Amino acid sequence: MSDPTLPNTQTNRIKKLPPLLINQLAAGEVVTRPASVVKELIENAIDATATHIEVRITQGGMGMIEVRDDGCGIEADDMVMAVTRYATSKVADVANLQGICTLGFRGEALAATAAVSRLTLISSTDDSGIGRQLELAGILTENPTLTPVVHPKGTLVRVQDLYFNVPARRGNLKSIATEFAHIEAVVKQLALVASHVTFELWHGGKRRFMMEGVTNQRYQPEHSQINVTHSSYRHAKLLSRMAVLLPQPFMPDSSEVSWLELSVDLTGLTEQNNQTEQIASASVTAEVWGILMPLSDLSGQNNRQDSKNLLKLIYVNGRLVQDRRIANCLRHCVNEPLSDMGYVLMFNLPSSWLNVNVHPSKQSIKIANLMNILAHVQLAVQAKLDTWQAQLKP
Ligand SMILES: Nc1ncnc2c1ncn2[C@@H]1O[C@H](COP(=O)(O)OP(=O)(O)O)[C@@H](O)[C@H]1O
Ligand SMILES: [Mg+2]
Repeated sequence: MSDPTLPNTQTNRIKKLPPLLINQLAAGEVVTRPASVVKELIENAIDATATHIEVRITQGGMGMIEVRDDGCGIEADDMVMAVTRYATSKVADVANLQGICTLGFRGEALAATAAVSRLTLISSTDDSGIGRQLELAGILTENPTLTPVVHPKGTLVRVQDLYFNVPARRGNLKSIATEFAHIEAVVKQLALVASHVTFELWHGGKRRFMMEGVTNQRYQPEHSQINVTHSSYRHAKLLSRMAVLLPQPFMPDSSEVSWLELSVDLTGLTEQNNQTEQIASASVTAEVWGILMPLSDLSGQNNRQDSKNLLKLIYVNGRLVQDRRIANCLRHCVNEPLSDMGYVLMFNLPSSWLNVNVHPSKQSIKIANLMNILAHVQLAVQAKLDTWQAQLKP
């Protein structure tokens, strides 16, 4: 009889985890619910410079998630690499992690998703009308086969039966309506920042919304006789997207809620930094711009319910982030008689100031100079709100 107090040499040896298990563990961090799959797939399409992204969902994403784009596509020889963990076309080497300008870079999303679903990848890189299809469920087989299929230039990823092989995770999912609401929110959040892309969202064969991409050539300001500066021009573009996406009372043209344009130039900060970093400042953008939506008791807004629906979105170099310090700074700008403030703010910062490799879902980010940046933002927001309140007073 073996002594139970002694370590069991059989089970205590260190073993390598099988690849499927490794990918499933990664999926635990990246694929937290159907909406997180949708987010990763849309980010891939944006990185592939798509101009049209179509998202088709069944059963709140628990049946099927399909994202089709007209981006650059994946070379036949790279199809298998695309679904291999830690394989990415986006960062060449570790040093490059400093200046990432794509939304993806970890090379995890497709492999992690495939580990917990039945995944079909179809892609074509040219206008021949021919693409390749790769199917996998859980993990790649030894010799995965690429099937030639009819496909226009671009990529289609279909994810079926999410968590079919991880019943515990499937049990954690909420109702179809709840999961779809999360998906809808994710698509809208990405559509706000990628305003040049046309987005379509379908659920169960019904189109939920479609938003035309607004390119600089195609955008016609309503009052074309007004000399639209570059700055108010992009505000107008953002507002036109928000008008489609916001719940009714928050339409930018509604009399209920006012919106204010914000533009904060931070080039002064890059000049300070340049003295130490030696970067040509002409090529470096450093600014914060966007829309503020103050809620005020003075304007008779019924605020408790309204506050809950307010958009509060922060993007850093096109990436939606959750940053408590930025959110706190904005909250501190809200004083009586304001009851709350919504915002969609774009932080465009030199990539050398950012470290995006902080969290697998890439929603946390490290920003150098943040205190200085926020000091400028706070001054500008407060000045905007003061002017607005002065106008409100009878
Ligand atoms: N929609 C797409 N269009 C073109 N290439 C894609 C698309 N989706 C994925 N890829 C390719 O597959 C690779 C792996 O994707 P992913 O697992 O999301 O990792 P990451 O985006 O971090 O590189 C990408 O680097 C890219 O080369
Ligand atoms: Mg990706």
